[in-house]
Amino acid sequence: MADYVYGPGRNHLFVPGPVNIPDPVIRAMNRQNEDYRSPAIPALTKVLLEDVKKIFKTTTGTPFLIPTTGTGAWESALTNTLSPGDRIVSFLIGQFSLLWIDQQQRLGFDVDVVESDWGRGADLAALERKLRQDATRHTIKAVAIVHNETATGVTNDLAAVRRLLDAYAHPALLLVDGVSSICALDFRMDEWGVDVALTGSQKALSMPTGMGILLYDLHTALDLIFEEGLDNVIKRHNRLGTATRLAVEAWGLKNCCRKVECFSDTVTAVVVPPYIDSAEIVKHAWKRYNLSLGLGLNKDAGKVFRIGHLGNLNELQLLGCLSGVEMVLKDVGYPVKLGSGVAARRRTSRIRRL
Ligand SMILES: Cc1ncc(COP(=O)(O)O)c(C=O)c1O
Repeated sequence: MADYVYGPGRNHLFVPGPVNIPDPVIRAMNRQNEDYRSPAIPALTKVLLEDVKKIFKTTTGTPFLIPTTGTGAWESALTNTLSPGDRIVSFLIGQFSLLWIDQQQRLGFDVDVVESDWGRGADLAALERKLRQDATRHTIKAVAIVHNETATGVTNDLAAVRRLLDAYAHPALLLVDGVSSICALDFRMDEWGVDVALTGSQKALSMPTGMGILLYDLHTALDLIFEEGLDNVIKRHNRLGTATRLAVEAWGLKNCCRKVECFSDTVTAVVVPPYIDSAEIVKHAWKRYNLSLGLGLNKDAGKVFRIGHLGNLNELQLLGCLSGVEMVLKDVGYPVKLGSGVAARRRTSRIRRL
C-alpha cells in the first residue's frame, strides 16, 4: 500500500487537532454561494456573535470571526492591542508557546520570556517577581499565556494569573491563547478578567482547519455544542482525558505533564522509554492501523507521542484509539499487557481527575 493511501474503514483521527467534524457540520457547509448583501447574512451573524460569546463565557467581550488559522489569530490579537516595542511577559512551556513568542519577537515587541521545563506549567512565581518590580512603572503592557500547551498536554491556571495582576493592581493586558482549550476546558473570560482570548476552528469547535468559518458550519457546530450543553461538553472532555491518563498509567508509561493540577483534558503527551523512538510509534500507528497520533515536537521529538482527545468524540471512539495504541506499543517491542489501558478506563466512573 502506498504511504498516502488509507486502508479500509475510517481513519482514526487522534491528533490534538484537527479533530473529527460532525456530519451535520459537514452537511451545513455544502451550500451554493449566497448574496452576502441580503438581509439573511446580518441576521445569521448577529445570532452567531451572541452565541460565540457563550463559549467564551463573556457578556462584555466583543467577538470577531476571522477567516484565519490560530497563528493568524495570535497576530491579530497582538497587533490590534499593542504597539511595536511594548513589553510583553510571555511564558515558554512548549512548542506552541515558543512559536507565539517567536511571532511576538518578529513583530517587534520587547518579549520578556519566562521559561519553564517543558512538561511544567507557567512559572507564576517569576511573574509575581516581575509584577512587583514593575508595580509603579507599569512597563509591562501585556501578559501572554497559552492556556493549554498542546505540545505537552499542560493546562495553565488563568485565574491565578488574574489574581496576581489584581494583587499588584497592574494594568497589563491578559492575552490568552485558548486554541486547544476553549469549548473543551473550563474557560471564563469575564470572571478571569481575560482581555483578549482567541481560539481556532479545528480544535474543540470540531470544524475545518484554518477557520474555514463559513458561517453555516459555525452555526451548526455551536448548535450541537449548546444541545449537549457547554458544561456537559467540558465534563465529557474530563472523562476522556481521565480515561487516557488511566490507560497511560496502566501501560507503565509517564505523562509528559508533571503536575497533576496541570493535566490537560484535551491532549495527553506520553513519554516513551529511551530505547523507543516515539516517531516510529506515530508512523506505525498510521501505516498499520490507520490511527493518527501526534508527534513529539521540538525538544520532545522522538521522546513523546500525543493522543488528542478533544472535540467531536465519544467513549467508544477513544477506546478504539487506546486499543490501537496498545497494539502499536506491542508491535514496537514495548512490553504492554494488551487490554490493560482499555480496562483501566472503566475506573473513570469513580475517579474524577487523575
Ligand atoms: C495552543 C495552540 N496555539 C496555536 C496553534 C496554532 O494554530 P494553527 O495551526 O491553526 O495556526 C496551535 C495548533 O495546534 C495550538 O495547539
